[in-house]
Amino acid sequence: MNRLKNKIALITGGAKGLGASIAQHFFNEGAEVIICDINIDKAQKTANKLNGNAYYMDVSNSSSVQNVFRKIETKFKHLDILVNNAGINGFEKRQDLLDERIKINNQQSKEFSETGKIESHFDVTVNMSDEEWITMISIYLNGTFFCTREALKIMNNINKGSIINMGSVLGTTGGPSSPHYSAAKAAILGFTRATARELASRNIRVNAIAPGYIDTDMTSSLGDVKKIVKSGTPMKKFGEVEDISWAAVYLASEEAKFVTGQTLSPNGGFVMSQ
Ligand SMILES: NC(=O)c1ccc[n+]([C@@H]2O[C@H](COP(=O)([O-])OP(=O)(O)OC[C@H]3O[C@@H](n4cnc5c(N)ncnc54)[C@H](O)[C@@H]3O)[C@@H](O)[C@H]2O)c1
Repeated sequence: MNRLKNKIALITGGAKGLGASIAQHFFNEGAEVIICDINIDKAQKTANKLNGNAYYMDVSNSSSVQNVFRKIETKFKHLDILVNNAGINGFEKRQDLLDERIKINNQQSKEFSETGKIESHFDVTVNMSDEEWITMISIYLNGTFFCTREALKIMNNINKGSIINMGSVLGTTGGPSSPHYSAAKAAILGFTRATARELASRNIRVNAIAPGYIDTDMTSSLGDVKKIVKSGTPMKKFGEVEDISWAAVYLASEEAKFVTGQTLSPNGGFVMSQ
């Protein structure tokens, strides 16, 4: 109940989905929550339910991030927990990629079983625009860096803190329709390990969560890709938001005081590791 009592926690992308569930769990454990999101209406509604605060923040915009963190420093004086969670899946304007994924997947299986030779190809990277690539990297990689840098300007004053970066299993396995997403998520895991080493002397722990597929708005558009994912998951299902939130509570709490530079991956067995 009180695992995060008196802690101040900032969650990016906390208006809905995993971020909102993490905010709820943090609140239940006694934390004061600050929700930052581009969807300020929804962020405000979520914050209101948790007696928390909401701020408009575009994590991909350095000035927007700096502006909010300065306000937070003035209002709250300190910050204990940062969750770098905000994000997109890259299919928002590209339903065609998902449709193509199913089509090509079926064609490849058919070709292979009939002739042993594959003639159909995904061709996502060769057709990706600069804008698609840059948007993805800006939100995830720049956003994680911008928020971490600004949070440290506050956390360094008390030499204590917990930073949690949202990765993904696709940062490890790769995803055939999302080279930009997989690249950004893999980079976040590297950034997590580097900052964990740098900040250990300050008693600021940095860890990542790499969720498997979880039921949220982000995955609701996946359509038939869901079937492919479920069949490749030993538990044969998607996870629930709570499966990730409890991992975040653990990493944010004193129970994880000896844990830094790690990646926790609730994923139904989609990826298995040490
Ligand atoms: N749902 C999954 O299966 C899954 C799996 C692995 C990793 N993740 C990661 O978990 C995180 C949350 O995903 P979700 O499923 O809750 O998605 P979601 O779409 O439900 O929520 C994402 C939130 O991020 C906000 N956001 C988007 N761009 C932003 C920006 N530039 N600045 C600030 N806020 C922004 C959105 O407004 C939204 O509130 C993401 O980092 C995602 O990559 C999700």
